[in-house]
Amino acid sequence: MVNGAGGSIGTFGVQIAKAMGAEVTAVDSTNKEKMLRLIGADYFFDYTKEDFTKSGQTYDVIFSMVAKSSYSECMKVLKPQGRYLLANPRMSDMLRSVMTSKFTDKEVIFVFAGETEEELLTLKEMIEAGKIKSIVDTIYSFEQAAEAHRRVETEQRSGAVVISAGHNSKT
Ligand SMILES: NC(=O)c1ccc[n+]([C@@H]2O[C@H](COP(=O)([O-])OP(=O)(O)OC[C@H]3O[C@@H](n4cnc5c(N)ncnc54)[C@H](OP(=O)(O)O)[C@@H]3O)[C@@H](O)[C@H]2O)c1
Repeated sequence: MVNGAGGSIGTFGVQIAKAMGAEVTAVDSTNKEKMLRLIGADYFFDYTKEDFTKSGQTYDVIFSMVAKSSYSECMKVLKPQGRYLLANPRMSDMLRSVMTSKFTDKEVIFVFAGETEEELLTLKEMIEAGKIKSIVDTIYSFEQAAEAHRRVETEQRSGAVVISAGHNSKT
């Protein structure tokens, strides 16, 4: 389960999970469903219309980019021995994770991206093998930086917004 799947990190989360053989559920807003299914999502929840924690489905791994996700609701839909990975943990989530580790067999992980040589080489191999690719919404020039920021704030954006030194605006 990738929550916030249609953003910069989530689109890689979906593809990496899929490349590793997982059955992937993606959660994001309406207009990202098509793109997320194209990159490998098997199931999709539109967070503007439904709450994935209320669907009755349970998950082995929940990878969440969404800081306001409910820790307790996510825990309820995490299977025994499941893993809850937080890209954007709140202090309260970090504190609660201590209790989760102590009293359940579930694991909460909020490691920040390490970018070790080994990890980067693994990603390079996956890119070269065509298993993962960057999902780029729009490329802006430096002069269009303000416009790029405005684009990030819209729900129409799908994937990453890039500011490039050598390109003109391109969607
Ligand atoms: N741990 C690390 O090492 C690390 C590294 C870099 C960044 N981060 C953090 O990770 C987070 C995600 O980064 P990102 O660059 O992937 O962000 P992003 O590109 O803004 O993607 C977030 C996605 O979540 C969706 N979303 C918003 N509210 C949601 C909700 N309630 N339920 C489900 N989806 C929702 C957004 O869709 P809409 O816009 O359509 O609502 C968007 O597609 C950021 O908070 C960032 O600070 C962590």
